[in-house]
Amino acid sequence: MKRLLLCCAFGLPAAGFADEGGDVYRQACAVCHAVGVAGAPGTPRLGVRQDWAERLVAGRPEMLRSVLKGKGAMPPKGGDASLSDAQAQAALDYMLSRVDSRAMAGDSRRP
Ligand code: HEC
Repeated sequence: MKRLLLCCAFGLPAAGFADEGGDVYRQACAVCHAVGVAGAPGTPRLGVRQDWAERLVAGRPEMLRSVLKGKGAMPPKGGDASLSDAQAQAALDYMLSRVDSRAMAGDSRRP
């Protein structure tokens, strides 16, 4: 843990931060949110737009609250108390970005 903090404090290249959300997601969220895992019923899956439709209507602030405080079968920050609020938020934004890109890919698909 100390080593991780040191490496960040001494400056990773900017690109290192760009995918922080993806890294946090894979470390702390994918175990429940990846497609194909046997998560609790109702777990919204990464990139599956129908799973997110209602939550997108509720909005990002509501989702962020759920991530930080927990919701249903999801513990606060997915159960990883070592995550900072900013890291949890980065993971949320990564998940939201995956919903958008999949939706666009789906829109362009011809039957
Ligand atoms: C232990 C399994 C588990 C882990 C780990 C987990 N989640 Fe979840 N998550 C769930 C479940 C179950 C739900 C559905 C909760 C509900 O709607 O009752 C959920 C719902 C959500 C939602 C929708 C919240 C809403 O307001 O509808 C978001 C966003 C989310 N998770 C993000 C994350 C992020 C980001 C992480 C990693 C930091 C994470 N989750 C880790 C199980 C998990």
